[in-house]
Amino acid sequence: MAHPLSLLALLTISGTLLAQSRPREGYAAALPRADLRPKDDESNPAILVNISKLPKTVEVSITAAIATLSLQPGVPSIVFAYNGRVPGPTLNVREGDHVIVHFRNDLPEPTTIHWHGIHLPFESDGSPFRPIAPGGTHDYEFTVRPGTAGTYWYHPHPDRRTGFAIGKGLFGGIVVHATDDPLPPMPEKLIILSDNRFLKDGAIDFADPHSHHGGIDEENGREGPVLFVNGHLLPTLTIRSGELQRWRVVNASAGRIYRIALSGHTFLHVGSDGGLFEKPVEVKEILITTGERVELLVRGTDAPGSKTVLQNLSYDRYSPQTRPSDWETTHDLLTLQTTDEAPVAPVAIPATLRKVVALDTTKSTAVRTVIFSQGLINGKTMDMSRVDVSTKVGATEIWEIANIVGMDHPFHLHGFPFQVLDRDGVPEPYRSWKDMLNIPKHTSARIIVRYDDYPGKWMFHCHILDHEDHGMMGVLEVK
Ligand code: C2O
Ligand code: CU
Ligand code: CU
Repeated sequence: MAHPLSLLALLTISGTLLAQSRPREGYAAALPRADLRPKDDESNPAILVNISKLPKTVEVSITAAIATLSLQPGVPSIVFAYNGRVPGPTLNVREGDHVIVHFRNDLPEPTTIHWHGIHLPFESDGSPFRPIAPGGTHDYEFTVRPGTAGTYWYHPHPDRRTGFAIGKGLFGGIVVHATDDPLPPMPEKLIILSDNRFLKDGAIDFADPHSHHGGIDEENGREGPVLFVNGHLLPTLTIRSGELQRWRVVNASAGRIYRIALSGHTFLHVGSDGGLFEKPVEVKEILITTGERVELLVRGTDAPGSKTVLQNLSYDRYSPQTRPSDWETTHDLLTLQTTDEAPVAPVAIPATLRKVVALDTTKSTAVRTVIFSQGLINGKTMDMSRVDVSTKVGATEIWEIANIVGMDHPFHLHGFPFQVLDRDGVPEPYRSWKDMLNIPKHTSARIIVRYDDYPGKWMFHCHILDHEDHGMMGVLEVK
């Protein structure tokens, strides 16, 4: 039961919210609850509880609802939350598991849950074709394909409202564990990156689409100056001297592309969207486009008691006309504190992680062309009643994706992981399974994909959410 005074305060905030966003029926009735912010471990969001007693089965419940959380310390914001949390609790599964998600939509607007990057039946994809009405429920069901151990994420995908719904707080991680992981056991951290923008009263700031700022958001994808790690501001993570840690990083931002670096350290980049590479790659920094994931190993090479910072370095994805004024600023994301404990001996990392079997280019039966211009794919905006690419189950195809304009557009395909063949004609140096690929301004790339089972209508789109919502999306029908 909320105290009358705080209830009044909440009503005031929700009144502001009403004025901000497109009003929907039921908003007034769906009074926000004065939830206390759950105290998560900052280095790992909470986990969805598996209620199944059956072997190889994960059965969980997710409710999307309005909540009040202090995303910024001491300032309550009205958010959309999965099970009352931002980010939502992590779906933790193993290859081969059968997954059942009992979903309930307590939001005042239609929504879906899309399991970004997971290979699953069309009925469970949570695409805009399958909206769940306010008050409605749906069971999402799929079996996790062997060989797909990796980091994924879930988020809403309603027609033209995805950016709004994710910006309000709806996103969560998915970790698919391998049945035989080549990496030795070590501490793991899931790091979900997001950014947001707030009004003084704490309300999440969505600009009026007709305003100047609204126009910038539509062009760049909505960005905010507040950068979150697992919903926290500049959290402190710990590592022991000598220790090796496995970090899984998810970019859940609408438009921001991260270029992460840990001062005084290199990373061992070990994996991407669909899991591990064939071999670790030593790098100083990693670019993570919207919707993309990376797996990396961090070595605790510092002395006990010292501190270092994970930073987001500047990256110019913008057209010169709409570049934000602070685009060159380096942002601190988290502090990595080396504990006072005595150093441990580092565990050994295998030189070969796994085999990533190349899809066979000689089997390709079609070449699809995707041309990204500003807001358009092949000159068109999204039409749910149109099929843009039609193909058959089992076919292997090459897609040529060209970005002909002066800002980056990240390509995403639902349902079927792909491999990158080349970028601007340069062969990809190492193979990996991808579902996100940034296409920098005035460049092109070729990918190869095989439509293993699961007929249906699958989306492909730019993963700058404002672009997607404004129609930078197409339909791939697999029959
Ligand atoms: Cu991450 Cu179509 O979505
Ligand atoms: Cu997706
Ligand atoms: Cu785009």
